[in-house]
Amino acid sequence: MYLRGLLIFSEQGLENVSSQKLSELLRISPPQIRKDLSYFGAFGIPGVGYDTAKLAKQIRGILRIDTPNKTALVGLGNIGSALLKYPGFGGYGLEICAVFDKDPNKIGKTVKKVEVEDVSKLSTLRKKGIVLGIIAVPADAAQEVANGLVEAGIRGILNFAPYYLDVPKKVKVISIDIAMDLARLPYYLPASA
Ligand code: NAI
Repeated sequence: MYLRGLLIFSEQGLENVSSQKLSELLRISPPQIRKDLSYFGAFGIPGVGYDTAKLAKQIRGILRIDTPNKTALVGLGNIGSALLKYPGFGGYGLEICAVFDKDPNKIGKTVKKVEVEDVSKLSTLRKKGIVLGIIAVPADAAQEVANGLVEAGIRGILNFAPYYLDVPKKVKVISIDIAMDLARLPYYLPASA
């Protein structure tokens, strides 16, 4: 969140940012911001604030996104295509540079400068040194794809399929279930009179 805030201020050309300003953007109290950022050892300068670029660099280092992270995408359907076109990964040092699908009509095509490869070629990821993968295939194909990614040396998976993946402990999975998140909202709505 802090990095996203700093990226926004950086785009606005702000060289320094106060905890007050970050607070207004992120809706987190200034004392909480100062406390959180103090863990990074970057205390800022009273009356001046934090050096936007320097703090962003430090947070990138902590998140281990200070060097580019090449990412593989499996499944070039609705979600996969949207992700491949999304320009917002760059700020986080992420780049989708390998795409796989099983549809013969998609394999061999070049989308956003990336050639779509046959999913049977997942093992090439190891040679390319790619350790992050995105799963955007239907639920019934997700485990098989995850197995292939793990065998290819993938260590982190962002999973869009509504399926609980079974992977070795060394592999970190973060699942995004848009429908489930949307379904959480009605609970917070006041009951109708
Ligand atoms: P889609 O059907 O548009 O695309 C799926 C793609 O995966 C296709 O290109 C297909 O050829 C490919 N594929 C299927 N089996 C494969 C396999 N074994 N190996 C490699 N590629 C394979 O699906 P969509 O809409 O993009 O959804 C992707 C995932 O995200 C699904 O699990 C879906 O439930 C989930 N999701 C989708 C949402 C949406 O709004 N489209 C919202 C929330 C979740």
